[in-house]
Parts: sequence; structure tokens; C-alpha cells
Amino acid sequence: MKNFYKSVFLSVLILSVSVIFSSCNKTDSSKEILIGEYASLTGSEATFGQSEHNGLMLAVEEINKQGLLGKQVKLITEDNQGKPSETQTVVQKLINRDKVVAIIGEVASSRSKAGAPICQAAKIPMITPASTNPEVTTIGDYIFRVCFIDPFQASVMSKFAINSMKVKRVALLIDQKNAYSTGLADNFRKVFTVMGGDIVEEQKYSAGDKDFKAQLTSIKAKNPEAIFIPGYYTDVNLISIQAREIGLTCPLFGSDGWESEKLTEGKAKDALEGSFFSTHVSADDPSPNIQNFIKKYQEKYKSKPDAMAFLGYDAGMILFDAIKKANSTEGEKIKNELARVKDYPGVTGVITINEQRNAIKPAVVMEIKGGNFVYKETIAP
Ligand code: PHE
Repeated sequence: MKNFYKSVFLSVLILSVSVIFSSCNKTDSSKEILIGEYASLTGSEATFGQSEHNGLMLAVEEINKQGLLGKQVKLITEDNQGKPSETQTVVQKLINRDKVVAIIGEVASSRSKAGAPICQAAKIPMITPASTNPEVTTIGDYIFRVCFIDPFQASVMSKFAINSMKVKRVALLIDQKNAYSTGLADNFRKVFTVMGGDIVEEQKYSAGDKDFKAQLTSIKAKNPEAIFIPGYYTDVNLISIQAREIGLTCPLFGSDGWESEKLTEGKAKDALEGSFFSTHVSADDPSPNIQNFIKKYQEKYKSKPDAMAFLGYDAGMILFDAIKKANSTEGEKIKNELARVKDYPGVTGVITINEQRNAIKPAVVMEIKGGNFVYKETIAP
């Protein structure tokens, strides 16, 4: 009998200790709101992910000064190495292992397209800060973006080519396996020809190629007045150098994927002189919102923010605002608030999310001068 009481006592003890422990864990984790992020912190577009992450971290630090629903935001960041397949693995991990309540990702459209279906299926709201390909948000009602989309970006650069660069004969050089690049090229072709322009040649490459001379030689034979390259900075850096090497002297122009301090590295500094690209925000803009952000960013990171940093910050702030308004971390409630975002004063402009879960905003065109990006003009939607 004594033994019986002893074992009852022991099991009660073990049970209560484990209850205390598990409730400790519970209160601990419920002091935090877990947000996931997937980004290319390494790989051939590493500056995209790093900048976006830095901007997002500023937003996290700021919200944590006041707290969110009485809790602290904890950001769990996964590096997808710039690969769509790795993206799927890390997004699964964020949702299933870490149990995040919402996700920020990615900059590049192809990787947002790889992660979004997983978020949609799990009913975890996802905001892409910078993916501009229209298909990203058509994946479902849990997928949002805080940037403009490529049909608009393409029309911006068509208008700019005709009205400001005063060119009519343009060649296209397209990253053939990148949805962002092919989508932009399709839209550009449409708008530019409707506006009276001529596409005199089209050539293709694959991200990571090292030799573009065959394509550039075919382009040169058609004698274009400018070449539109809707690609990413690592490839555009090499393309610009090789274009000059084979004697192509016309300006090159492109899109937001050009924006990186690495674009003009080495010989590309001269090769890209007088070229243009469209993007989301200009650091030359004197508006206080933008200048305050630049100041905060520089204090923390000792470098200038680029478009991805601005957009990463806005994506975070809009998500936190939605969680606050939802007064809940339930996916469905957060999603409903995201769909209602109207006139939010972001650092990339005033953000309203439309019925397609896209943001309607102006674009800016930058000119490359001495390796720097200099504000040229703003084009409203
Ligand atoms: N818009 C690009 C894409 O969708 C990504 C990008 C955004 C790159 C902003 C640079 C700046 O793939």
C-alpha cells in the first residue's frame, strides 16, 4: 500500500511539473508574435535579400519599442540562396516548424511565386515587398504586395523611351527563364509598338550566363537606338561591359531588377554611363518620410538604402498595422485587414491595396552617372 501511495504521489508530481513546464513554455512563446521572412541573403542576387532584410529589421525594431498587441515581434529569417526549390523548403519550415503567423517574402518574382502557393494553402498571409510580376498575387487571397506591377513598369519605360530618350528603334535582351523578365518584355513590346516604336531585334539569355557576345552581335547588326534589358543586376553588369567591347554604343535601359550597388562595379561603371532604369523610390526625393528613413537606415547600417530596403520596411510596417487592426494573429483576420489598406503613408509613397491585392503607386526613372543612380523623373500610374 505504501508503495502504491508513493507511486501515485510520484506520478502526480511528474504530471504537475510537466504542466508547469508546458504552461511556462506557452506563456513564453505567447509573449512573441512570430513573423517569417524568406530572402536571398546569398546567391547571385544577394543584395536584393540583404537590403530587404535590413529594411524589414528597422520596422521590427521600431514596432518593438511600442509592442504589438502587448507582445514583441520576433522575425525568423530563412535564406533561400536565391533558389526557387530552396524557397519551398524554407517556407514549409517557417509554417510547419516555426508556426509563424505571417510571412514577408521575396524580392524576386520567381521566388515569390515558389513560396506563395504554400502560404496560400496554409492560409498564412504573405506580403512581397518588391515582386512586380502580376501573377504573384493571383495565386490567392492571402498573397499581397506593396509595390506596383510590371504592366505599369513596362508602360513607364515605353513612355520614357519615346518621350525622354527619344528613341524609336529598340532591341530587347530577355532572361528567358525568368518570369519577371519575360513578363516585362511582353508588356514593353505591346505598349512600345502601340506608341509607334519598333522592336528591331529580340535576343535571349539565361541568368548566370557569362558570354553575351553572340546575342549582342545580332543586336548590333540591326543598329538599334537603345536596348531594353529587363533583367537582374549581376547579368546586366556583364552585358553592359560586353556590349561596349563589341562596339555597341547606344544607351541601355531596364527595370527595377537593375538596382544594386553591384550593377556598376568594375568596367560597368563606364559601360552604363547615360543608361536608365525604372524603380520604386529615389533617395534624392526630399520628402521628409524618405529622408527620415534614409537617416535611420544610415545610422544603423552605415550605408544608403536602396529600393528593396525601403520596400522591406513598408512591407513590415503594413503587416504590423494589419495585425494591430485585426487585434489578432489569426491568418484570416490579418488577411482581411491587409485587403483594406488604404492611403497608408509608407516610405515608398502612399499605399492603397486594390482588389487584386496590388499597390497602385508611381515609379521613378533613374539615370546612371559616374556609377551613381541619379533621379530623372517620376511617372504616375
Ligand atoms: N521587381 C523585381 C522582381 O519582381 C524584383 C526587384 C524589386 C528588384 C525591386 C529590385 C528592386 O523580380
